[in-house]
Amino acid sequence: MQKDLKHYRKSYEKGELTEADLPANPFILFQSWFDMADENDHIDEANAMHLSTVGVNGMPKTRVVLLKSYSRDGFIFFSNYHSEKGIQLDENPQCCLSFFWPALEKQVIIQGKVSKIAEAESTAYFKSRPKGSQLGAHASAQSSVIGSRAILENRLAKLEEEYKNLEIPKPTNWGGYIVKPINMEFWQGRRNRLHDRILYSKNNDNWKIERLAP
Ligand SMILES: Cc1cc2nc3c(=O)[nH]c(=O)nc-3n(C[C@H](O)[C@H](O)[C@H](O)COP(=O)(O)O)c2cc1C
Repeated sequence: MQKDLKHYRKSYEKGELTEADLPANPFILFQSWFDMADENDHIDEANAMHLSTVGVNGMPKTRVVLLKSYSRDGFIFFSNYHSEKGIQLDENPQCCLSFFWPALEKQVIIQGKVSKIAEAESTAYFKSRPKGSQLGAHASAQSSVIGSRAILENRLAKLEEEYKNLEIPKPTNWGGYIVKPINMEFWQGRRNRLHDRILYSKNNDNWKIERLAP
């Protein structure tokens, strides 16, 4: 099977990122881009981001997770601490996050250091989740091999019964991670492949700003 996609071509013309637009702090720019994505009717789940991790075997893995909050402290997502990403992050607590919002022709790439958030904060978020998601977190040993879907559904049915009238506790191996950026790149598609790329790199309490060739 072979499909040739070489003729797929698009001119990016929806925006520009000039030096005059750049705040000293990249979180300000992130916020304005994120709000644009969030308000755009053609973008579903503006908070879906790619998370890339590399464990001790050196083989990178990327998957989508949902950004659940951000502040100048960093970017927070939730997951199973014993999942493949959890193991890789234990081995090497650094990652790359990336967002691509095609309707805006914008990409943001963030490299940073990762740590677990406070247990109390994870518990508070867990409690705010719908009961089905809470039970799902208990039912699924994320990233482990399972014999069939039926095993998972039976496990969920049992848990539904067990916790019928009870508060569901947060699994001890489930919680949030915070990514504290060491750099953030903002990419805006432009005509003739002369895209705008602006790199913010953390420099003590300040951010160095540089333009990269597209
Ligand atoms: C739109 C979307 C959102 C997702 N959000 C999350 C999330 O917030 N947390 C999570 O652990 N997995 C999420 N997943 C599932 C992950 O992509 C992945 O399958 C899972 O975390 C297991 O990854 P791992 O085996 O590399 O650890 C999401 C998947 C998609 C497509």
